[in-house]
Amino acid sequence: MRRMKFPSLALVTVALIHTPVWAQDDTEVRLEQAREAVQHFSESLKTELKTAVEDGGPIHAIDVCHQRAPEIAEEISTRTGIQTGRTSLQLRNPDNAPDDWERGVLNAFEERLAEGEDPKTMEHYEVREENGDRQIRYMRAIPAGELCMTCHGTEVRYDVEQALLRKYPDDQATGYSEGQIRGAFTLVQPM
Ligand code: HEC
Repeated sequence: MRRMKFPSLALVTVALIHTPVWAQDDTEVRLEQAREAVQHFSESLKTELKTAVEDGGPIHAIDVCHQRAPEIAEEISTRTGIQTGRTSLQLRNPDNAPDDWERGVLNAFEERLAEGEDPKTMEHYEVREENGDRQIRYMRAIPAGELCMTCHGTEVRYDVEQALLRKYPDDQATGYSEGQIRGAFTLVQPM
């Protein structure tokens, strides 16, 4: 009789690899929420950076970027339960270093860019099991645009470069051209 309590390994395997329909719907909903969070993060930060550069100049805007990026991320997390951040293969702030999964996705984004995909719409997500909890991880590429060149471009003004190096002695985040991938937004959402 004892054997009856244990479903066969085959059955367990089938249950695990076939995500039920409700869970798939859930993934779609979560994915949409992740996209909205990124949209909000991206637009808020860009607007604040642009205003800061125009009103106070790029050296003042360095502090705005440093201070506001984590604050906006915190605000999103409180409101939605989604953890958000930014990462890159060429870091300015070492606190933004990618983990192994993020590094893999960033490398895949570079390959996709080389194959001609538009970085403006590039994204990747996975539903994963972390310490027994299901979560969705989502990344979205951040293309380098005109505004970014002031602080990430190939010809950063001397005084701006010096201010960046004072704050970030190991800065690797200059030398970009428009259309390259500067990094990615990276999100974790519990399911
Ligand atoms: C006024 C200067 C300035 C401008 C303009 C600027 N950045 Fe940055 N960027 C910074 C600073 C400073 C940091 C480090 C922030 C921190 O301490 O977390 C940073 C960090 C980043 C990061 C996080 C990864 C890392 O290297 O630490 C990304 C991604 C990024 N910037 C993308 C962009 C993009 C895309 C644009 C254009 C839309 C842009 N930045 C414009 C100054 C700037």
